[in-house]
Amino acid sequence: MVAELLVSQTELDKLESVLLNHSGKVPLHNRFRALFTLKALKNEDAIRIISKGFVDPSALLKHELAYCLGQIKNEAALPTLNTVLADESEDPMVRHEAAEAMGAISATSSLSILKKYSTDANRAVRETCEIALAKIEWDNSEEGRRHHSQQEETPVFTSIDPAPPTSGLLAGKPKPQDLSQAAISELQSRLLDTKLPLFERYRAMFALRNIGTPEAVDALAAGFTDDSALFKHEIAFVFGQLLSPHSVPSLIKVLQNDGESDMVRHEAAEALGGIATPEVFPHLKEYMTRDDAPVVVKESCQVALDMFEYENSYQFQYADGLETHAVDA
Ligand SMILES: [Fe+2]
Ligand SMILES: [Fe+2]
Repeated sequence: MVAELLVSQTELDKLESVLLNHSGKVPLHNRFRALFTLKALKNEDAIRIISKGFVDPSALLKHELAYCLGQIKNEAALPTLNTVLADESEDPMVRHEAAEAMGAISATSSLSILKKYSTDANRAVRETCEIALAKIEWDNSEEGRRHHSQQEETPVFTSIDPAPPTSGLLAGKPKPQDLSQAAISELQSRLLDTKLPLFERYRAMFALRNIGTPEAVDALAAGFTDDSALFKHEIAFVFGQLLSPHSVPSLIKVLQNDGESDMVRHEAAEALGGIATPEVFPHLKEYMTRDDAPVVVKESCQVALDMFEYENSYQFQYADGLETHAVDA
């Protein structure tokens, strides 16, 4: 059982007022910090407060709220997530994250709404529903149950992922044979095979993340040529978890590509903020203030620069918090 962090009512009220910007003057990155603190509490107070944030105008903030509700993994968040997914006037990035959160919580009661929106007009939303449906089914399969009962005590990546790694790479750390170029090439071809269900391609993606070598990073970066924004944003997300400087050139290219979808560029910006090597800084600075950059990209660069400063200031607590959505969804 996970130990609950205890905070006083006064501290909770303070977190609520920062997250919901009651003063009207709280910078976005401070609201993110309050959100990550609430997420770490993992309790129903946190769910109640986070759920109040969906009236905000920032799609970036709202998609992160949905992400955190999924990671808390408590069915008490489902009514809010259902409302967000069903609101067709909501930003697709936020609706996507609500569907993904349902996959993370993995309640069979979510199957019907996920089925309904798996034919949504927005591609990222319907693809997310497809993956979340497959994840809930997998969690309840023989292989899924076995996997969950044998979970490592301290996994390297603590996030609840939209898909498990490819079978064979499920248990524990990758073995030496998994690190061979042949094994990585095999995973890369699964990753790029558009005939496979997205869930299977995601499984290859998370297997490559767990391998994490420069060769695995190159295999993942090959996925940036795909035509699914959802798929590409998830690659940027896993780069934000891996924090490999080897992924920086591909992420900068994504951030700079104004023909790329906002959702993918946003995730690239946040991943760069997490990696925080010196060459990253001018790019984040540039896109935070560029007039022609979409709001979600600018805001992501603002949050990313805040992460960058923390990464470079020995204040590790925030970096830990951000490993969550690194920090994605
Ligand atoms: Fe995201
Ligand atoms: Fe996402």
